[in-house]
Amino acid sequence: MKLYLDTGNIDEIRELASTGMVDGVTTNPTLIAKEGKDFLKVIKEIIKELNKYKTDFTVSAEVTCTDSAEKMIKEGRSLARLDKHVLVKVPLTIEGLKAVRQLSLEKIKCNVTLCFSASQALLAAKAGAWCVSPFVGRIGDEGWNGMELIKEIRHVYDNYGFETKILSASIRSAQDIHDIILIGSDIATMPASIFKKLYYNPLTEMGLEKFTQDWKEYKKNLEKGKNKK
Ligand code: E4P
Repeated sequence: MKLYLDTGNIDEIRELASTGMVDGVTTNPTLIAKEGKDFLKVIKEIIKELNKYKTDFTVSAEVTCTDSAEKMIKEGRSLARLDKHVLVKVPLTIEGLKAVRQLSLEKIKCNVTLCFSASQALLAAKAGAWCVSPFVGRIGDEGWNGMELIKEIRHVYDNYGFETKILSASIRSAQDIHDIILIGSDIATMPASIFKKLYYNPLTEMGLEKFTQDWKEYKKNLEKGKNKK
């Protein structure tokens, strides 16, 4: 299972990519706008950073002219030309999926975004998407169960033999990641704050504290000549 960072912030990416655990980065227009920098420059910076630690990674860059398939195809081609690691992110609309179909025929990998139902996920796969991004958190925000959607898509893709990957997105908590791992999502993308929480468990902290204390005690006693057999 791959773990991605959902951010356009280069400092966050730099910090976590150095762990070797970051398999990719997803961005969207909101995340890019937050950085206040040139879109393509941010994407290039992210690729440069991940290149230091991995050979096999993806960086999702979203199309911004979404009113026609033609415009998305044009923008998608130019995003894909930036680097072989770019995934062209396309919204799940009729025009979007027309664009995905064409781009996929040209061997350009697409991440179909803003997926909120199993039927939409089926269409994305039929259009040739490399991956589909169901938005777990936004479903939860409305009072429904985002995890059910991941389960349904897993079932549909396995049942019909689609190779499109499930990239669980819009993650709100470390618990979301736990659930997604067990369901069998291929990829999960999350903010840096949640990525860091995956390492944490209070029992690990407590266990380490006890080991450290006991070791100190043992060394102290050794110096005093105790504990020798
Ligand atoms: C990533 O691909 C999505 O754009 C992102 O996870 C959406 O997250 P949000 O619902 O927190 O904005």
